[in-house]
Amino acid sequence: MVAASILSADFGYLARQCREVLDAGADLLHVDVMDGHFVPNLSMGPAVCEAVRRACPEATIDVHLMVTDPSAFVAPFAAAGADHVTFHAEVVPDPRPLMAAIRHAGMSAGVAINPDTPVDRLGPAIEEADMLLVMSVHPGFSGQAFIPGVLEKVRTLRPRLRPSQRLEIDGGVHRQSAAACVAAGVDVLVTASALFGSKDYAAEIVALRGARSTGVALAR
Ligand code: DX5
Ligand code: ZN
Repeated sequence: MVAASILSADFGYLARQCREVLDAGADLLHVDVMDGHFVPNLSMGPAVCEAVRRACPEATIDVHLMVTDPSAFVAPFAAAGADHVTFHAEVVPDPRPLMAAIRHAGMSAGVAINPDTPVDRLGPAIEEADMLLVMSVHPGFSGQAFIPGVLEKVRTLRPRLRPSQRLEIDGGVHRQSAAACVAAGVDVLVTASALFGSKDYAAEIVALRGARSTGVALAR
């Protein structure tokens, strides 16, 4: 699947841009939430998610919380129409209570690790998360270069996951790095600058997807 990160959309035309990437074949809209603390940038919050939901009622909205206190944002994003919430393993001692809270709020739950964080930090999330997210850049900004060393973590995780668990990669995904990601076992590719910076969204999505697609949607 291809997840279009709206961080690189033109915010002045956000509804139109979301509609365009969905019509071009994006499977998910990826909403990057930054608090200026866990990462050195501010981005968007529940109000933007709610606007995206209103503009695209049928979209699957994949929220990526790059925040120090993700528990504070579960209810607001559920109310804003998110389908899925991923938080970072680095900010919780045990991912299970937060995964439970996300599901209780009617969403699926994901857990992310930064490029320097080992796979073991995911703990029970490896067995229990609906999605695992391997960051392939240091989070905070779009348009950074892909860190190929993280593919080793993808190769470690893939055989440990059940077929229903998704493995997502985020950061620096472009036509060249996408093939290596898919070969390593990724099934959800997040793309911001490569997609929104392209002239032909549909052609870019076809190129990113390559020959393989799981065709499996995130559970609501
Ligand atoms: C990075 C964000 C990513 C980012 C990806 O902090 O989590 O989702 O938007 O941007 P590109 O695809 O440009 O690397
Ligand atoms: Zn992201």
